[in-house]
Amino acid sequence: MSMVDARELRNACGLFGTGVNIITTRRNGIDHGMTANAFMSVSLDPPLIAISIAEKAKMLPLIRETGRFAVSTLAHGMEKIAWHFAGKPDPGFQDVFRDERDLPVVEDALAIFVADVTDEILAGDHTIFIGHVRALNICPDREPLLFFKGKFGAIASQEPAPVDLCDPIREIIW
Ligand SMILES: Cc1cc2nc3c(=O)[nH]c(=O)nc-3n(C[C@H](O)[C@H](O)[C@H](O)COP(=O)(O)O)c2cc1C
Repeated sequence: MSMVDARELRNACGLFGTGVNIITTRRNGIDHGMTANAFMSVSLDPPLIAISIAEKAKMLPLIRETGRFAVSTLAHGMEKIAWHFAGKPDPGFQDVFRDERDLPVVEDALAIFVADVTDEILAGDHTIFIGHVRALNICPDREPLLFFKGKFGAIASQEPAPVDLCDPIREIIW
């Protein structure tokens, strides 16, 4: 039997290319953001998403307390925002948040999900939160920021980006 060490597992998982999100919440008027790629769509009916948060992350107790979070999917060119909220704070960083349903979200993100926590699953050194999506905002013509093998990248564009039109925020009634 061969043992899989943590570094090997991390490297293997790093071969699964993903987008990049900033998870946010607000407690007592104070905003907190964290970079995350452990995000997935869980169910369309009801509309559920999942995120996975490390036990050492400051974000974990905050989401437990507030029971709410937002996911802002980053667009191409937002690497600085991703590093800033991944434990490498930039001292000259300008606030990038705007308000959505009383949660901070990243201005100009590709997609925004505002969710209420419905379930919390302890999974090893992480906690998975399932969120019921209450509001959505998408700018589908923007290009995504990607993460692969520990580096940020972009998709190879076939053609120039079309006119940048964003859909208005929508309530999810379910
Ligand atoms: C691309 C990328 C993706 C990440 N994804 C996650 C994730 O899904 N879950 C997680 O707990 N940490 C993730 N991290 C690490 C956190 O962003 C990092 O530990 C952060 O400093 C935690 O912030 P906090 O302690 O202020 O809440 C990721 C980091 C990067 C650069």
